[in-house]
Amino acid sequence: MSRQKIHIFDTTLRDGEQSPGAKLDTNRKIQLALQLENLGVDTIEAGFPVSSPGDFRSVDQISRVIKKTVVCGLTRAVKEDIDAAAEALQHAKRPRIHTGIGASDVHIKYKFKSTREKILIKGVEAVKYAKKFVHDVEFYAEDAGRADLEFLAKLITAVIHAGATVVNIPDTTGYCFPEEFGRKIKYLKENVPNIGKAVISVHCHDDLGLATANTLAGIENGARQAEVTVNGIGERAGNTSLEEIVMALYTRKNFQNFSTKVKTRQIINTSRMVSHIMGIPVAPNKAIVGSNAFAHSSGIHQDGILKHRENYEIIDPKIVGAGLSQIILTARSGRAAVRHKLEKMNIRISPEELDKLYAKFLQLADAKKEIYDEDLLTIFGSNGSNGQTKKIRLSDLKIISGSHIKPRADIKLLVGGKIKSAEALGNGAIDAIFNAIDKSLGKKYPLKEFLIQAATGGSDAQARVNIALESNKNLCWGTAVHTDTVMAACLAYIDAINHLSAK
Ligand code: KIV
Ligand code: ZN
Repeated sequence: MSRQKIHIFDTTLRDGEQSPGAKLDTNRKIQLALQLENLGVDTIEAGFPVSSPGDFRSVDQISRVIKKTVVCGLTRAVKEDIDAAAEALQHAKRPRIHTGIGASDVHIKYKFKSTREKILIKGVEAVKYAKKFVHDVEFYAEDAGRADLEFLAKLITAVIHAGATVVNIPDTTGYCFPEEFGRKIKYLKENVPNIGKAVISVHCHDDLGLATANTLAGIENGARQAEVTVNGIGERAGNTSLEEIVMALYTRKNFQNFSTKVKTRQIINTSRMVSHIMGIPVAPNKAIVGSNAFAHSSGIHQDGILKHRENYEIIDPKIVGAGLSQIILTARSGRAAVRHKLEKMNIRISPEELDKLYAKFLQLADAKKEIYDEDLLTIFGSNGSNGQTKKIRLSDLKIISGSHIKPRADIKLLVGGKIKSAEALGNGAIDAIFNAIDKSLGKKYPLKEFLIQAATGGSDAQARVNIALESNKNLCWGTAVHTDTVMAACLAYIDAINHLSAK
């Protein structure tokens, strides 16, 4: 019996980009979109075109370069949004408009201050309007996880009648339990008379850590499209992670008889690209793609693995592309080798970009003996500038620190062409730097998050620092990567201040 195909709808570039601090420029989004196509996803949700000129440009550019995969743009059930999406998608070989509206009573009452009847009409009108531009229209019933079942069935029947080709049942707030979510999909299969005319899609959030379980429950009960993000990034606690769904269906194919067309050997590579380009670290214990996902530390487990891999591994690491051989670059490697490496990671850059990247590569290769794939990704992801092209830049930094002195930082910043300098003490070197920066700019910046991670392996690994400052109850993120952790912290703090002042 042939396996049932599950469509993978990737929303890393839309819902994933809604993760705090994950804003990407168009060029980086194109690179990720190309890798998603290479990975073999069925649909790429490229952005929300009406939301900003940058999002519009990204959807437009991605539509032009993607060859086989469906490219999708998100809209609210509003004509202006649909017009923007249609325009941004006009060059897509296979365009899809993803429109929708809140379906739960909470959303209807408090978000839309409307009624179920009016919401249904708006949903139907949005689908009909989107159909004027494209054949493929997906409808989302936002917060379906908390929506009244009878109303949901009525809404879905009406939008399919209006021409929706895919109906998305999102658990927007990550509220459902798997069995409950599965029953919801089953109910729709049984109570929406025209359900056979559309594909059911599930889009789950991870607020209770149940996104993958809920998505699988949806699939078991009739959904044939799963909406996912690489590494599970996304709004709040994130979305269902692509690698977990793909590998769950792959690993248990004889149990569930489903398959996807994702090239599993590209999974780790894609995960690293997303993490480095978006500046969002992956937890070491993250299923499938975490650095510990295939590590065995206890003696009993190591012994078991050596006797027979399957004693403790349900997935052969090679299947997801783990531990593939690495050609290591050094300061003696030329541009051609760097370009070759990037191309192997499916990154194509212009000669001008290669020039800039190569200069940064040489700087790094001087500080670090060997340059691994992930080092290159970090240079590429941060564009190698560590925010040093922005309004406020680091001009000079001196730190005095030790076991018997209070740490002191002396900083010089270049602010709009003028030098501002200050000296300050702190509880540690990094605290002293942040105090000196605050003093030189005459303002105390409210630090909310501070995260240091080794961006790559080895004792000379680069450190990535992510910092969030608070502004009007919103978090403003800054990121920097450097072989010196203290420098990475300093540059990330300045990067966050630049983002904050740009708001
Ligand atoms: O979580 C959600 O409901 C969404 C929709 C816009 C599809 O992201
Ligand atoms: Zn979502």
